[in-house]
Amino acid sequence: MRASTALFTASAATVVAAQSASTYYTATGAADVAAAAATALTLSPTSNVKGKAFDRIAIIWLENTDYTLASGDPNLSWLAEKGIKLTNNFAVTHPSEPNYAAAIGGDYFGMNNDAFNFIDKNVSTVIDLLEEKGISWGEYQEDQPYSGFEGFAWVNQKTGANDYVRKHNPAVLYDDNTINFERLAKIKNLTMFQQDLENDTLPQWMFITPNMTSDGHDTSVTVAGAWTRKFVEPLLNDKRFMKNTLVLITFDENSTYSLKNKIVGILLGDAVPQKLVNTTDNHFYNHYSSIATVEANWGLSTLGRWDVGANVYDWVSKYTGDELRDYSASAMAKHWYNQSYDGVFNSAPHYPVYPKPNLCLERHGRKVQENIKKTWRGSKNPTYYLDTIEVNDHSNPPFRYGFN
Ligand SMILES: *[C@@H]1O[C@H](CO)[C@@H](O)[C@H](O)[C@H]1NC(C)=O
Ligand SMILES: *[C@@H]1O[C@H](CO)[C@@H](O)[C@H](O)[C@H]1NC(C)=O
Ligand SMILES: *[C@@H]1O[C@H](CO)[C@@H](O)[C@H](O)[C@H]1NC(C)=O
Ligand SMILES: *[C@@H]1O[C@H](CO)[C@@H](O)[C@H](O)[C@H]1NC(C)=O
Ligand SMILES: *[C@@H]1O[C@H](CO)[C@@H](O)[C@H](O)[C@H]1NC(C)=O
Ligand SMILES: *[C@@H]1O[C@H](CO)[C@@H](O)[C@H](O)[C@H]1NC(C)=O
Ligand SMILES: *[C@@H]1O[C@H](CO)[C@@H](O)[C@H](O)[C@H]1NC(C)=O
Ligand SMILES: *[C@@H]1O[C@H](CO)[C@@H](O)[C@H](O)[C@H]1NC(C)=O
Repeated sequence: MRASTALFTASAATVVAAQSASTYYTATGAADVAAAAATALTLSPTSNVKGKAFDRIAIIWLENTDYTLASGDPNLSWLAEKGIKLTNNFAVTHPSEPNYAAAIGGDYFGMNNDAFNFIDKNVSTVIDLLEEKGISWGEYQEDQPYSGFEGFAWVNQKTGANDYVRKHNPAVLYDDNTINFERLAKIKNLTMFQQDLENDTLPQWMFITPNMTSDGHDTSVTVAGAWTRKFVEPLLNDKRFMKNTLVLITFDENSTYSLKNKIVGILLGDAVPQKLVNTTDNHFYNHYSSIATVEANWGLSTLGRWDVGANVYDWVSKYTGDELRDYSASAMAKHWYNQSYDGVFNSAPHYPVYPKPNLCLERHGRKVQENIKKTWRGSKNPTYYLDTIEVNDHSNPPFRYGFN
């Protein structure tokens, strides 16, 4: 039996943040894990809230592969031919964890590390927006030892190999989720995915993270591509899964830090119009696009962060009426998205302040969630969010969040 403390790398931000953390299920000793697993709650609530373009979304994230390499993988190509390939899709920074944080929270709050980070409970995520509309959600993290586990990592108990890692689990990074036992109960493993599939109790929004072998992190894009095809192919004809469902297969980041952070994105599923199968979409998208698309599809409130301005996937926008924007060539020439701007979770924060959501933003009738307004209205913290797709990066930091 092995714990995973060797992977732990403390940082100043970690220590500060941990004081406000929800740490009920963080123990990684084998005995602690076994005891917690015996009593931890698992929930699989369902709902059927109609969306404008799709009724369900499954988001699958793979690891660290450059666009060109992922495009060449035969199994990912096979999947891409079943749907729409995004040819201008970007990660928001390096390394992994801030990208996963961004995928549901609309920012990475300066994070430039894979540390044991806890994002303050006053920061909301897409989960708050979904719950407001009664839309069921769940995460499926391969080899997470039990539902709601908050620990830093869980290694394969026979081989000691990297297996489940917290840094690839977006919901668990936010205290807003982990202070809530009902939410922890929906942060499940892939065994529970199979069970929910069998029981016909899959939620309408799901985030799926394969383990460190399956997602290519410790292996290669060949392994990640084969795993993904093996997982997705049987679902393509499964009526319990394909119920006007959109599947997004993408990567957290490109692997060459010195280059722009472009990544493969594939949209498929029975929600995708037949005439768009085996096509490409070259609009600009990034991790915030999947939040914007979900907001537009179900007419949700917004987070008032980078989610607001992000492009909604083109085919979905045809149903929601959202206008897509082009990234200007001059801005693209100086944005790399290969390093984080400053903020609370930077390993050497110069300005460790949570930016306030921009409470005035409105996009196609979608306003910032009332509860978020209530939390942040009186805050004197600065905001940097604008209604734009040209979001900041390290070389073009928000005012006060630069390094100099
Ligand atoms: C998955 O989670 C369930 C529920 O907590 C747990 O009983 C089961 O052992 C876990 N499976 C694996 C493979 O860790
Ligand atoms: C990850 O999951 C795959 C099955 O999807 C399994 O073959 C592999 O051994 C797991 N990795 C570890 C480190 O346990
Ligand atoms: C779901 O499936 C599992 C395993 O097949 C079973 O034990 C459980 O009772 C089922 N739950 C529901 C709500 O049907
Ligand atoms: C992945 O692609 C290769 C080459 O086409 C093929 O041999 C293999 O069976 C595929 N894997 C899966 C899981 O379908
Ligand atoms: C990001 O990319 C730019 C342009 O290639 C490069 O100058 C810079 O060093 C890169 N940053 C990192 C952290 O690799
Ligand atoms: C990483 O993404 C950039 C585009 O932003 C691309 O030019 C580069 O080729 C990618 N890396 C590789 C090796 O594919
Ligand atoms: C997808 O399109 C390409 C070229 O446009 C074609 O070669 C390929 O056979 C198509 N794949 C499918 C599954 O239709
Ligand atoms: C949210 O929490 C952070 C960290 O505790 C704090 O700095 C910030 O002022 C809080 N914001 C609000 C609106 O409470």
